[in-house]
This record gives sequence, structure tokens and C-alpha cells, in this order.
Amino acid sequence: DWVKEIFGLTELEQELAAKLQIDQVIVVPGDSDQSEWVKKEIGRHGAQLLKKMVIPNQVVAVAGGTTVMAVAEMMTPAPSLKSTLFVPTRGGLGEAVELEANYIASVLAKNSGGTYRLMHVPDQLSDEAYRTIIREPHIQAMLETLRQARIVIHGVGDAKRMAKRRKSTPHLLQHLDQTGAVGEAFGFYFNRQGDIVSRFRTVGLQHDDLKQVEYKIAVAGGASKAEAIIAVCANAERQILITDEAAAEQILK
Ligand code: BG6
Repeated sequence: DWVKEIFGLTELEQELAAKLQIDQVIVVPGDSDQSEWVKKEIGRHGAQLLKKMVIPNQVVAVAGGTTVMAVAEMMTPAPSLKSTLFVPTRGGLGEAVELEANYIASVLAKNSGGTYRLMHVPDQLSDEAYRTIIREPHIQAMLETLRQARIVIHGVGDAKRMAKRRKSTPHLLQHLDQTGAVGEAFGFYFNRQGDIVSRFRTVGLQHDDLKQVEYKIAVAGGASKAEAIIAVCANAERQILITDEAAAEQILK
């Protein structure tokens, strides 16, 4: 659109898509690190894109975090999303409840007019509890639904910042350091080449499940996330990125 032409964002989007080697990039003006309003703009574009991509009776899996929450908050009623089922990618990662995928899935459904299903599973489980829980019929059914997800919407985090936000052990922090983890998405930690160097063993979307997904929509902005975005996009297929100018310029440096 003309606003983007004036700000030169279309060119920036093309440059960024080429550099990251991903399918599509949307860049909004500004820097999310500096302004909440820019994060909301990323959210608004995410909501818009979702409405455009929708097909009937699809499953959309949503991850946690403030940026995915912005997508949910900016969502408006959409007849096309009525038959969409929103599900969380996992139970919870020990974060504030407003940032949890479960809650965000419910807000997306409420604001769009779609439906949702929740997954009540604590995230830090003993081996024994884990093995028992994933045999539960309703959990099996939920995981089956998750594997049918056509679209996944997720945030991207700086590896160390995320590990701290989740109150991870010093042991994990050290491991992330040693393995060169810089980015995080879906509970997986990525090095700069896009290899997964560490992961939570949780009940929810597994890395293999991502292969079935038609589109992954990453929503992440702010210059401080540049390295993390590079890492998460490095090996990604069918990846779409909605970011901001500050992150884009830092990535292209
Ligand atoms: C977390 C997700 O809730 O949010 C992470 O589990 C993601 O996978 C992170 O990286 C991003 O958070 P934010 O608030 O920066 O969008």
C-alpha cells in the first residue's frame, strides 16, 4: 500500500526475505523495544494475515508471549474464522498466565468468533508423570488435533532472556551458553545456524509436528531480537515473519 511505499518498507521487506531466505516478510514502522504501539501494529498485521489465509474448518495453533497476545488483542470478528479451532501449542511454560498459549487461544477465539480448546498440563513434569499424562485419552485427542494444525502463530525470544523469564536452572543457562543458543521459539532453543540445541520436554507440539504445518507465522520485533530472529528463521520452511523496522535493519547490518 502507499504508506509502505512512502516509508520504503516494501523494499526492506524484500531485502529481509532474501537475507533470511523465507517466503514472506511484513515490516511495520518503528521499534517494539521502544514502543508498545509498534508491537500492537505487528499484532494487527498478524490478525489481518490470519483472516486472509483462512480456510474453513482449520486448526490454528498458538504459542505464548506478549507479541502473539497482541495478535489476539487486535483480532476483530471475522465470519471466515467462525469454523476455526484455536489450540495452544503446549500447556504452559511457567510464565504469567496472560502470556500463556491457553489464554491467548481463548482470546483469539473470542475476538474472532472462532472456537478454542484448552490443554491443562503442568509443564515441568517428572518422567513418570509425563509418561502417564500423555497416555490420557483426552490428552491424546488434544495432541492429535494439534498435529492437524494448518497454521502456527508464534513469538521469537532472545534465548537467555527467555530462559530467565522462565526461571530456568543455572544448569540450563550454562548449557545455552556452551551451545551458542541465541534464539527461542515454541520452547526450543536455536543456535545461529538454526539448529535446535536445547528443548523442553513438554506435552504439546513437537518439532516433527511442524513439518505438517502449512505456514508458520512468526511475530517478533525490536532490535534486541535480531539475532534470535536470524536463528529461528535459519532452518525454517514455510515461514512467514511479521517484524518491525528496527529488527529488520539490525538483521541486515
Ligand atoms: C513465550 C513463548 O511465551 O513467548 C516463546 O513460549 C516466545 O516461545 C516468547 O519466544 C516471545 O515472547 P514475547 O513476549 O517477546 O513476544
